Amino acid sequence: MRFAALLLSFVLATARATLLESADEVLLFDAPAFQDPNNASNSVISLQSFVYHKQIDLTTLTNTLTAWENNGSIDKAVERLKLFAAVGVPGVSLSVDVAECSEQATLSATSGLPDLGLAVTNASIGRCEGGNTFTGTLLNNGDTISTTIFSSGTDGFGVISDIDDTAKVSHVLNKLEYVKTTLFDNPEPVPGMPNLYASLAKTLDNPPFIYITASPYQLFPLLRDFLKASFPNSLGPIFSQNLTLEDVTQVVDIISNPNDILDFKLSQIDRVQAMYPNKTFLTVGDSTQSDPEVYAGAYRKYGDFIRCIWIHRVDGANNSYERFITAFEGVPKNKYRIYTDNDIAGLADIDVAGGSC
Ligand SMILES: *[C@@H]1O[C@H](CO)[C@@H](O)[C@H](O)[C@H]1NC(C)=O
Ligand SMILES: *[C@@H]1O[C@H](CO)[C@@H](O)[C@H](O)[C@H]1NC(C)=O
Ligand SMILES: *[C@@H]1O[C@H](CO)[C@@H](O)[C@H](O)[C@H]1NC(C)=O
Ligand SMILES: *[C@@H]1O[C@H](CO)[C@@H](O)[C@H](O)[C@H]1NC(C)=O
Ligand SMILES: *[C@@H]1O[C@H](CO)[C@@H](O)[C@H](O)[C@H]1NC(C)=O
Ligand SMILES: *[C@@H]1O[C@H](CO)[C@@H](O)[C@H](O)[C@H]1NC(C)=O
Repeated sequence: MRFAALLLSFVLATARATLLESADEVLLFDAPAFQDPNNASNSVISLQSFVYHKQIDLTTLTNTLTAWENNGSIDKAVERLKLFAAVGVPGVSLSVDVAECSEQATLSATSGLPDLGLAVTNASIGRCEGGNTFTGTLLNNGDTISTTIFSSGTDGFGVISDIDDTAKVSHVLNKLEYVKTTLFDNPEPVPGMPNLYASLAKTLDNPPFIYITASPYQLFPLLRDFLKASFPNSLGPIFSQNLTLEDVTQVVDIISNPNDILDFKLSQIDRVQAMYPNKTFLTVGDSTQSDPEVYAGAYRKYGDFIRCIWIHRVDGANNSYERFITAFEGVPKNKYRIYTDNDIAGLADIDVAGGSC
């Protein structure tokens, strides 16, 4: 009897392998599109997807947050963190239709542990027409789930940007402040940065903006909404970390203490370089975590693919001479700049297209 039940659940698990069920929910991340290196008429997207059980048990999360901060903002915080309590579903393959392009994208099956429910796929979308921004729509179920696809050509400029404390006020150096701004406050842009990025969008001739953040993917909806509201002229995909929790109470520790940032960010720059090997990137980050080390490491690896490095000097971070000298070893002095809040307004005047940094 017991064996029969086990066998049945095994058969069911196998049978559902590629199907999306009504009990499943899908998150499609905004994605970059690039020219197929083997066929110039074909575009490829690099799309992250997450399939999870629709039913999310929020009890532990709510209790954690209530114990942590017993005031009226709990609902908002739970909503922002609910994906941390979501349970991923492995083995599901999705298809996405991109209205402006000739082929449907077939995504890889979602992963088992440790990246339960996640997939990152390169998928052909054929020949595309109509500008640089496309809309992908999930084909597998009735609800309309869509994603924005940011396409860009093979040459010219691009911008790689960090989010926390570069584009968004986050206070990552102070755990309590970071948690408060992330969970309870309305996200605020670093003053002057939306204007700067809007200006770069013009002077660098519509570069793709790619945001590389140490934040885990569960915060993607929050960060995407923030960019839409505050950076409408420099929207782009957000490359985030895969982090899974054993226990939902780890949420607060994880979001305020991202680990392995250096390796993660370098791997994501490798990903950008593989998509756009002939572009050249302005990289923008800050001194709180590892951006100087990451961007300088990418320069040492790829040379002029990293055209300029701009680092926001954040009070309270390690802004010592030794740190920057060590980080920027091998990077020419005229390739990088460390800027303060007061410098932001003037950054738009730097002729990056003309070769200045
Ligand atoms: C996240 O997980 C997916 C699925 O396993 C994998 O393809 C992708 O490379 C991972 N991303 C990172 C940054 O590790
Ligand atoms: C190149 O891509 C286009 C658009 O997807 C397709 O029509 C064409 O058949 C491809 N060419 C080759 C040689 O695969
Ligand atoms: C990059 O440039 C090289 C040399 O001009 C060229 O052979 C290659 O096809 C280009 N790659 C892409 C993806 O455009
Ligand atoms: C709730 O807590 C947050 C985070 O500490 C704080 O900013 C906010 O002012 C508090 N709200 C109320 C109504 O006490
Ligand atoms: C995705 O495409 C890029 C660019 O062609 C390639 O370098 C990379 O290896 C591909 N990734 C996967 C997982 O196939
Ligand atoms: C700052 O960074 C430098 C270089 O890595 C290091 O030697 C120094 O100890 C750091 N200072 C602090 C206060 O962490």
